[in-house]
Amino acid sequence: MDESGMNRYFEAAARADQWHREYREQMKQCRFDTIATHGIYSMQEALDFNQGAIIEPVYMSTSQAFRDSDEMEAALGYKIPTWCYSRIANPTIYYLEGVLALLEGYGSEVETSCIATSSGMSAIQSAVDAFLVIDPKNPGAPMNFVATTQVYGGTYQQFSMRKDLEHGIEWRKVVHSTDLSEWESLIDENTRFLYGEMPSNPCLSFFDLARVAALAHKYGIPLIIDSTVATPALLRPIQHGADIVIQSVTKSLATSGFGISGAVISRRNLVSKIDNPEMKADFANYLKLLPNRDNGPNISPMNAVLALNDIRTIRMRMDHMSRSTMKVAQFLSQHKNVERVEYLGLSNHPLHDLASEYLYLVDAEYDEQYGAPVNRYGHLMSFLVRGDAGQTRDVFDAFTRIWRATDLGRIKSVATIPAISTHSQQGEEGRKLAGIPSNLIRLCIGVEHPDDIIKDLDQALSVLDGKKLKVTSPEFSAGGSSSARMGINQMLKY
Ligand SMILES: Cc1ncc(COP(=O)(O)O)c(C=O)c1O
Repeated sequence: MDESGMNRYFEAAARADQWHREYREQMKQCRFDTIATHGIYSMQEALDFNQGAIIEPVYMSTSQAFRDSDEMEAALGYKIPTWCYSRIANPTIYYLEGVLALLEGYGSEVETSCIATSSGMSAIQSAVDAFLVIDPKNPGAPMNFVATTQVYGGTYQQFSMRKDLEHGIEWRKVVHSTDLSEWESLIDENTRFLYGEMPSNPCLSFFDLARVAALAHKYGIPLIIDSTVATPALLRPIQHGADIVIQSVTKSLATSGFGISGAVISRRNLVSKIDNPEMKADFANYLKLLPNRDNGPNISPMNAVLALNDIRTIRMRMDHMSRSTMKVAQFLSQHKNVERVEYLGLSNHPLHDLASEYLYLVDAEYDEQYGAPVNRYGHLMSFLVRGDAGQTRDVFDAFTRIWRATDLGRIKSVATIPAISTHSQQGEEGRKLAGIPSNLIRLCIGVEHPDDIIKDLDQALSVLDGKKLKVTSPEFSAGGSSSARMGINQMLKY
């Protein structure tokens, strides 16, 4: 190939690469909040390339034009900075990936990179599929992976149905994730990776991350951690030895609830027995430029900018919401109509001490308010109603301030009954393995004043004492009317 015409692009690209490296290094010296706010979008880039826009612009264009055929050839060969086509890359998406990579790597010397995906589920699929490939040296070998059973219901389905049942890739289930010998007993020469969700949704299971990472590396395989519930404001698994982090960006990272999105963040030079140097050198970037280019599960620019805007305040939100959740958890743990509360922040929780070794509010020691490290345990909790499945529904149906929705991470408090929603598809047996009874309500606390949430919980739980709740609904909506509700008030349960 005659590259002479492309040389001027290569040379400019090398200079630009140096500039961006130095800029990223400068940003890495900043505190977490500064990185979350600015990411890798510089004033110089704004002035020279984006009409001075102080907020990262949204590039809705499907594709990029090239100055000439040389630039096009160099770009399509990934030899110069390029975005080409928005299925592969896009400038807005690039800024989201840049900030997430820096935040997950914060506080460590590890170099990280990120690919943003259309959902948390596509992040999981993109990450695990890269390891579930035929080994050319042993093409007939069966494949397996070792993963905790206490995972989000969608993950459970992806692993049990899509991987295990439909593709014959064995999911070896870790039921007691704090038992290192259980993890180890499931690993053999055909194990491709270890996988865990921590804290888990909805039961907040937790394990010794550093020890599980060391175990994975002893066998030459990577550890993948779904850290959605913690967010990088409370836990950065790569710092503790994990190789790959999954984020459902949909959740606490993008609290506003405007779009579905996900991310895979990886350390450079990860461990794997798969003979693919490019993949191991820069996993997230490899996913972005090769498998995800061909499979197409990446994020849209609009969802990327919506997530970016929320991420700027992640630390303060996680602090505030964690403190409110602690207050709610303490209230519920004293309530006579509550059997048990699952919240890692409660000192009587069996995993409290272990979780306290890992879950810290980032940079609390540089915060005037604290001046020292402080534990924060997130805004997801669950509680078991003292009653059966029907009574649990009665309590749930009586919420007025807390929204009934199969969601978490929202700015508004939301609740669900996992057994009939997020974890219904895995069936009774699957729920038993994951420890999800039918009287469990999952609660994710927003930024409301916690006293108002406590009031709502108290009145809902009073239904079990025979209290009747009266909720009415207007027949016309004041903000854009429809008469659809006329005459149906009498059908409302309360
Ligand atoms: C821990 C966890 N991981 C992954 C997902 C999937 O994320 P998404 O809904 O963005 O696909 C969820 C969704 O609830 C989750 O709770």
